[in-house]
Amino acid sequence: MAVKSIPMPTADCRLPVPMAKPRVQFICQSCGAVHARWAGKCDSCGEWNTLVEEGTQGGGIGGGPAGLRSPRKGRPVALTTLSGDIEDAPRIVSGIGELDRATGGGFVRGSALLVGGDPGIGKSTLLMQAAAALANRGHRIVYVSGEEAVAQVRLRAQRLGAASAPVELAAETNVEDILATIAEGRRPDLVILDSIQTLWTDVADSAPGTVTQVRAAAQAVIRYAKSTGAAVVLVGHVTKEGQIAGPRVVEHMVDAVLYFEGEGGHHYRILRTVKNRFGPTDEIGVFEMSDKGLREVANPSELFLGERHAAAPGAAVFAGMEGTRPVLVEVQALVAPSPLGTPRRAVVGWDSARLSMVLAVLEAHCGVRFATHDVYLNVAGGYRISEPAADLAVAAALVSSLTGLALPGDCVYFGEISLSGAIRPVAHALQRLKEAEKLGFAQAVLPPGTEDLGAGTAARAFQPETLADLVARIAGSRARRVED
Ligand code: TYD
Ligand code: MG
Repeated sequence: MAVKSIPMPTADCRLPVPMAKPRVQFICQSCGAVHARWAGKCDSCGEWNTLVEEGTQGGGIGGGPAGLRSPRKGRPVALTTLSGDIEDAPRIVSGIGELDRATGGGFVRGSALLVGGDPGIGKSTLLMQAAAALANRGHRIVYVSGEEAVAQVRLRAQRLGAASAPVELAAETNVEDILATIAEGRRPDLVILDSIQTLWTDVADSAPGTVTQVRAAAQAVIRYAKSTGAAVVLVGHVTKEGQIAGPRVVEHMVDAVLYFEGEGGHHYRILRTVKNRFGPTDEIGVFEMSDKGLREVANPSELFLGERHAAAPGAAVFAGMEGTRPVLVEVQALVAPSPLGTPRRAVVGWDSARLSMVLAVLEAHCGVRFATHDVYLNVAGGYRISEPAADLAVAAALVSSLTGLALPGDCVYFGEISLSGAIRPVAHALQRLKEAEKLGFAQAVLPPGTEDLGAGTAARAFQPETLADLVARIAGSRARRVED
């Protein structure tokens, strides 16, 4: 690791610093903490190699920690009342259902929204489609690309069949120039800035993409949104560590954060709400990438269950929820004898600590032994489950794979497992059951005493008190099969 030259301590210890001489500071690109000296590790967040030298002149406007300018005399602002006319509808609806669902019912006027995601996942495509849809509905939409030339953006628009939409387009990266441009004419309803990492403002003198620049640029743009009532969408690339580059800081500043996710090799994309000051945070929008852009997927369960074959040991269908929407996914387990002293545990799409817990409960309370077996768990379709309600489906898949007994192909599972082996109730049982029914599942294994299931549904439901009851039922299916 290269050791950078360290500023002389005497120069730094004298406080306050009265002169306007530019001073160097080292800013953590992960958490934004300011350090007087370079170091390999950030004291504040513990990340390595994230400190970058940035000048302080003018950086960190608005009292940011990255350096201060001498304060100017304040100017009085007009105070107003709570009641009063609200001129426009507070939200701009794109008509792209999955997008409107993720934003909580449309873009909010005067707000700033960050769309994050890996490079190449389809952020620009999504926003171009949204821009075209909104422009076709008569809104003034400005799309500013800092990454691509006008010709490239046009090419994409043609491919999306959006070239005729009255979107106003520019390729520009300077924030002051962008704001001066959009100040002309009618106030835009939505301004899309693609991407925040390419923007730079005159008031900060570091390179584009550094924390200081990104923060200063975002601040300027957000101030514009709040003062004019235009909605602003910022696009942000995620670094390989899974953060918006430079900028947790931006996540704190904006009103809503959406992540656009997808798995390599799969065509579907999920727009996930991570933060939303004006709506729910657990919503998702599901899209499929086609050769003509993103297509809405109104029924994600069909997508995730689409590749399901006849019932095989180790597969269980989990009836999950994403926000207000039920989603059915297949959980697959493979339990195989291990040649290793310490058997392998591998998980894709679920929490590995949670798998260890389910294995421990199966061992301790149900007498099922995995100590000499490798365990692999996979959520089909590259989907990611975050709900504890998947415990029961995972346990069923594990037991099914270990015993070689296939679970019924028309059965869904949901329920949380406690360390004592009891099955705990989870929310939205009825909605999960309805979705399962809609997709042709005739049976369900779910927690006892959840909600009133109604006569029709209750007939097909098995509600085990403990995990041992479920294990006994799966093991008993062998005996039942022999009888048949
Ligand atoms: P893009 O929106 O440029 O990604 P981002 O802005 O997140 O970096 O999308 C790039 C990918 O999407 C690229 O690999 C090609 C693919 N794509 C399609 O498959 N179909 C399409 O119609 C378009 C426009 C892109
Ligand atoms: Mg892009």
